[in-house]
Amino acid sequence: MSGKRQTILVFDSGVGGLTVLDPIRKARPDANYIYVADNSVFPYGELSEDVLLARVRDVFDTMIPRFNPDLVVIACHTASTLVLPMLRARFSIPFVGTVPAIKPAAEQSQSRIIGILSTRGTAQRDYTAALIRDFAQTCEVILHAPSELASKAEAALNDEIVTDASILADIAPCFVENEGRRTDTIVLACTHYPLLLEAFERVAPWPVTWIDPGPAIARRVVQLMGEASSDAAPEQPIRAIFTSPFAASAPLLAALKGYGLEKIDFISINPASPV
Ligand code: DGL
Repeated sequence: MSGKRQTILVFDSGVGGLTVLDPIRKARPDANYIYVADNSVFPYGELSEDVLLARVRDVFDTMIPRFNPDLVVIACHTASTLVLPMLRARFSIPFVGTVPAIKPAAEQSQSRIIGILSTRGTAQRDYTAALIRDFAQTCEVILHAPSELASKAEAALNDEIVTDASILADIAPCFVENEGRRTDTIVLACTHYPLLLEAFERVAPWPVTWIDPGPAIARRVVQLMGEASSDAAPEQPIRAIFTSPFAASAPLLAALKGYGLEKIDFISINPASPV
């Protein structure tokens, strides 16, 4: 992949994928980016597997021919733990997924108690169960999926008040003490959650290592696409596509601009048949 400016499409159900876009963009500032947020059916974490599969297929049936990306990043654990085989069978370009960072968490935990903070969908996936079985058998694993936390991350980016008490209630079950050992590592297994990291650190009952998948995903993208070329053209503003119009407040627009998203368009997705 060399020559013309490469196009990377980064996808999520909402603004969570920005936490993955950011490190990718730092690693490859020369690429052209499209950010797609399927906000019309957010949150993905509450959708059934059949509905989510059909939905993501319909989104990509529209987006791939329209934007012709060189590579797609599914910056969403809820989708990645389910839809990657379907997407790879359907399209010939590379898809990079974001799946719960259970392996690195288990490798670095000293106390052998790790938390996985995810959405309900991700917590229920066979894929997640297999990661725990394959990589965290020697750990006590607390898999916890607060139903409103991704929505709180969206609200926080929109400058709405999200209280520390409500954040603490959402993360507290991950903090466990058992015979003198306590949770020392928590996987942020939803890309929305790094948006709340400051609050997590502020309210946490004790300090832990939080694992944000973004940097590892950026390394994977560089592995597949190569390093940025030294004579790279300057960064370009990013085009964002949302699947449902929304009244973007001034703070939200400013936050999106901070991630490089300058131009926002809406493309609605007409559902086809079930998968
Ligand atoms: N950001 C998404 C993830 O990583 C999910 C949020 C949602 O429930 O839509 O799982």
